[in-house]
Amino acid sequence: MILRDIRKLELSYIPEKILCRNEELQRLKLLVESGRALISGGVGTGKTLLARYIGGDAYVNCYINKTEHRVLEEILKQIKPRFNPAGLPTQKLWNEIEEGKQLILDEIDGMHTNELRHFAYAISRQHEIGKKIKYIAITRSSTILRQIINDDATWSTFANNAIVELRPYTWEQIKEILEYRASQSLRSDSYDDEIISLIADIALQSHGHMRTGIDLLRNSAMIADSRGKDKIEPEDVREANREDMISDIESMEVNDAILLLAVATACRNRAYVSLEEMKDYLQVKGEEYGIIMGDRKFEATLQSLLQQGFIYEGKYGYTILQCPTSVLIKEIEEKMKKITS
Ligand SMILES: Nc1ncnc2c1ncn2[C@@H]1O[C@H](COP(=O)(O)OP(=O)(O)OP(=O)(O)O)[C@@H](O)[C@H]1O
Ligand SMILES: [Mg+2]
Repeated sequence: MILRDIRKLELSYIPEKILCRNEELQRLKLLVESGRALISGGVGTGKTLLARYIGGDAYVNCYINKTEHRVLEEILKQIKPRFNPAGLPTQKLWNEIEEGKQLILDEIDGMHTNELRHFAYAISRQHEIGKKIKYIAITRSSTILRQIINDDATWSTFANNAIVELRPYTWEQIKEILEYRASQSLRSDSYDDEIISLIADIALQSHGHMRTGIDLLRNSAMIADSRGKDKIEPEDVREANREDMISDIESMEVNDAILLLAVATACRNRAYVSLEEMKDYLQVKGEEYGIIMGDRKFEATLQSLLQQGFIYEGKYGYTILQCPTSVLIKEIEEKMKKITS
């Protein structure tokens, strides 16, 4: 088995170490100590992880609990399990939260607008009356959150000067994090540098960022395991990241198709291919189907395939990310037979 411990690749798992976020983590700790912090950053930049790593007495996802009352109920459920908040006014619920408690308010901009405004005002008020409830609030964008709250006084007590901005990870950082997470959860000889690079390539250009990276690591390992292999191969990663490309291939122009076929064939058993290798394979496939492509045409075709996302230029070379090469090869060969027969 490749997967030693699948639990360690689940979203809720908190790894022992957090890589590439040292400064942010130190600053966050200081801010929370002094009472409040707002983590801001795009999808999969590690916001929830950082907050949970620091920890709190209660964790609430405000996207699921959209009203002030629901958020407070959820907090009290965790810090006072025997207290029954049903039917009580929100002020009473605030009074039940003791000074010094530390709260994690994830996806705070997921609350209904008016509820959020009042909640932000109320928690700031608690500070003003000298009752310090500590909190880490989390949002995808502090700029948008500020616009939603739309009140300078509330904003300034709620989050001003307390924002920790998480910038997107670079490819190198994604790779480093993936390597660490793989070393904790997979058998050590079941993956290599190219596999990690390939997953990092996909994560970097995906909307889900590091979230996509961890998902792919887990799913690639599961696919390779289900195929009885003892190593993750590029095809397993491509299968895990598979998108439906069949209809695109049907309508594809013949030059595009033949170059994609060449790249797919070159990448069959590996992650990346160089420009030279791509040209060699193109020549072979071109001869097979009687298609000759000049240098100019080759350049234009490559650019067009890159632009459409069929081929990707990763750090280590050209590759295919969105479909197993075996599937592409089969589809394109069928298409070419139809055209040339
Ligand atoms: N620095 C890191 N070290 C180790 N693992 C990380 C790191 N950053 C992110 N991860 C992992 O990447 C995944 C996504 O991170 P997380 O859920 O914290 O992102 P997020 O910013 O909260 O995203 P979203 O906006 O979608 O909620 C998690 O599995 C997390 O454990
Ligand atoms: Mg999150």
